[in-house]
Amino acid sequence: MTILEELSRRVGDAFAEAGLDRDYGRVKLADRPDLAQFQCNGALAAAKAAKQNPRALAEKVCEELRSDVAFNAVTIAGPGFINITLADDELARRLGAILQGDRLGGWQTPAADKILLDYGGPNVAKPLHVGHLRAAIIGESLKRIFRFAGDEVVGDVHLGDWGLPMGQLITELKREQAGLAYFDQAFEGPYPDQPPVSLADLERLYPQASVACKADKARADEARQATAELQKGRPGYLALWKHFVAVSREAIEKEYQDLGVTFDLWKGEADAAPLIPEMAADLAGKGLIEDSDGAQIIRVARDGDNKKIPPLMLFKSDGGVTYGTTDLATIVDRVRSDNPDRIIYVVDQRQALHFEQVFRAADLAGLFAADRLEHIGFGTMNGKDGKPFKTREGGVLRLREMIDMVTERALARLAENGLAEGYDDAETNDIACKVGVAALKFADLSNPRTSDYIFDLDRFMAFEGKTGPYLLYARVRVRSVLAKAEAAGAGAPGPIIITAPEERDLALVLLGFGDALRAAHQKRLPHLLCDHAFSLAQAFSKFYAGCRIADEADDSIRASRLGLATASGRQLDLILDLLGIQAPARM
Ligand code: ARG
Repeated sequence: MTILEELSRRVGDAFAEAGLDRDYGRVKLADRPDLAQFQCNGALAAAKAAKQNPRALAEKVCEELRSDVAFNAVTIAGPGFINITLADDELARRLGAILQGDRLGGWQTPAADKILLDYGGPNVAKPLHVGHLRAAIIGESLKRIFRFAGDEVVGDVHLGDWGLPMGQLITELKREQAGLAYFDQAFEGPYPDQPPVSLADLERLYPQASVACKADKARADEARQATAELQKGRPGYLALWKHFVAVSREAIEKEYQDLGVTFDLWKGEADAAPLIPEMAADLAGKGLIEDSDGAQIIRVARDGDNKKIPPLMLFKSDGGVTYGTTDLATIVDRVRSDNPDRIIYVVDQRQALHFEQVFRAADLAGLFAADRLEHIGFGTMNGKDGKPFKTREGGVLRLREMIDMVTERALARLAENGLAEGYDDAETNDIACKVGVAALKFADLSNPRTSDYIFDLDRFMAFEGKTGPYLLYARVRVRSVLAKAEAAGAGAPGPIIITAPEERDLALVLLGFGDALRAAHQKRLPHLLCDHAFSLAQAFSKFYAGCRIADEADDSIRASRLGLATASGRQLDLILDLLGIQAPARM
């Protein structure tokens, strides 16, 4: 149980004692930390329900709590808020208990799920861009948070490999190299093992095709037709498509690696394609499919919808499938291969309507219950102009360029701050890359998921404030304190005793980890963990400034302070790991 869960139970008992519902005993962190550590506002609502005087009722509850030695002070503020402060011994005892194991008080879910986590969503042949950045960063962190809390997670990249861009590429390549066997309907194979295109070719062909198709309807029709033929299994197109996927995937994997993002599955939209005919027959059998101008649709609107939810298009009039069709068939595939309890999609908020349609269709068809399908949407990373971030030249920024850019900026910042000096070039570069990526990831994660934010490298990269570099620096400082203490023969960390306000504040923050993790997990909000990490780094910094550590004369106080420092370092390390942020060993 977390500290708030335990206190809520304890205060709930006191309410029950007074003949009231124990749920009124819910305790939270105090709004005014200068007055108390915790507070419970339940007496107000309880008094209203029981038609009693709130202060008198709060007094009754407080009376009960005051008999408990675990509390140092239980007071009433205003109309009936109950303020609670723990006894130092109790704080120290609880902290000691959570420092015993590896979880450091990290909350464990009472209802573990098997989660299929869909994040990343890059598209074949299109370079990864900042739009995919947040999915990867947030998804990686959620995966780690879920796993640490006890859920089983299967992470799937879900490549975009089955849509119109594939037909656009096929037709564009045909214009350049019509003689290739892939385009010859009479050719019976086998097709060459070597790809006919390089990554550079793909990155040139796709934008070329996309521009041409926008400008010329005939070209667009041609691409659509090629897509439909590919989807129906034309052998030459399939063989060509396999090359596109392989070439592209290799590059995508490398970029994710640099970002510290990994997947258990590298499936794509196309993996669900073979299941579509069977699924369509099943849906037709259930009477869910309607004909609409030659296309086949599933109506998903409901009475009482407050906005218009258009039907999901299963087949276009040319027989081609849509993004909705593959997402629906992917659910069928996931049920068969992994049978998850829950499927969670970490995808741009702008796709909310698409997921609403898919979830409703899946539910209607009995494929998967809608309340176990979650779209975890996020806002966009914008440029200073408030529009989705672009490079100076106006194109989408590639992930590779982004990583180079943050690394370069980190090198400059490290030099300005006199850090990473005197190390060889390889290590300096590695440190800069880690600091740069940490700055980017932390900036992304610390921003509430659903809000947009502005890309501001100077702010992300600052060594002061709520930033990645500040946390990495705090971590390095904890380590150096401990290393110096060891070198000075300061002894081993020992049991925690509270003798100074800085120790008390730090202990309280350390103890709050369980609640931060619980909230981050339950709300799918990694920024709550970022907030905790920042509070911890700040509390450590005040502790370090206000208390002697290695040179404290009193043996048991020194041992306790070493214990607090060790705990701070371990908890920071653990949180950075849960955020998917890699820290350099030194800076
Ligand atoms: N490939 C899509 C895109 O670039 C994202 C895929 C997200 N996952 C999903 N199951 N639809 O927008």
